[in-house]
Amino acid sequence: MRVPKPGKTGLQTPEIRLRRPRAADALAMHRVAEATEVLDLNSTYAYLLWATDFADTSIVADADGELVGFITGHRPPPRPDVLFVWQVAVDPSAQGRGLGSQMLDGLLARVLADRRGQPVTVEATVAPGNAHSRALFGGFARRLRVPLVEHEHFTADLLAADGGHEDEPILRIGPIAEPPN
Ligand SMILES: CC(C)(COP(=O)(O)OP(=O)(O)OC[C@H]1O[C@@H](n2cnc3c(N)ncnc32)[C@H](O)[C@@H]1OP(=O)(O)O)[C@@H](O)C(=O)NCCC(=O)NCCS
Repeated sequence: MRVPKPGKTGLQTPEIRLRRPRAADALAMHRVAEATEVLDLNSTYAYLLWATDFADTSIVADADGELVGFITGHRPPPRPDVLFVWQVAVDPSAQGRGLGSQMLDGLLARVLADRRGQPVTVEATVAPGNAHSRALFGGFARRLRVPLVEHEHFTADLLAADGGHEDEPILRIGPIAEPPN
């Protein structure tokens, strides 16, 4: 899948390619996560696992060989109809121009195709203070015209002993039978 590259103009017509991650992307995924200054930073090893064993439920945005965004996801074993979106990251230089939404739509379309018509429910936990993330998932539910419901899930005490982490309530979006137009 190819989309216009955000934030660059000039003689070239640069493109962003949305594709499955591969092992060689792990270091760049770690770099982009760190650059957001918002996400919990995982080890390079964790990104390597996601870029390999969980590549079918993850996506990266590749701008002429430079990784500018990614989504890591998985299918929770007890809920096989769910695509759990773990981290969504867009490099700060490319934020606010639709790339996060395009990655989410692209990943959903791929997972739906892999499920051969069986519906998918997207889950993600989002801290109350993360306005950009809430806007991302709110817009996603509106484009798909499906319900978005929120429940308490991972509470702050489970995430940090010193109170240094917000609650992570869960958003459930769906069920979704078809990708957005
Ligand atoms: C959250 C994030 C992935 C969104 O990616 P993005 O490419 O910037 O988002 P998009 O341009 O696709 O916009 C998605 C929605 O957010 C809104 N939005 C984007 N930037 C915004 C901003 N600065 N302020 C308010 N809303 C904003 C858009 O209007 C859009 O809403 P819509 O669909 O109703 O029009 C990106 O900002 C990011 O990497 N943030 C840091 C990491 C993070 O918080 N990740 C999410 C938690 S896992």
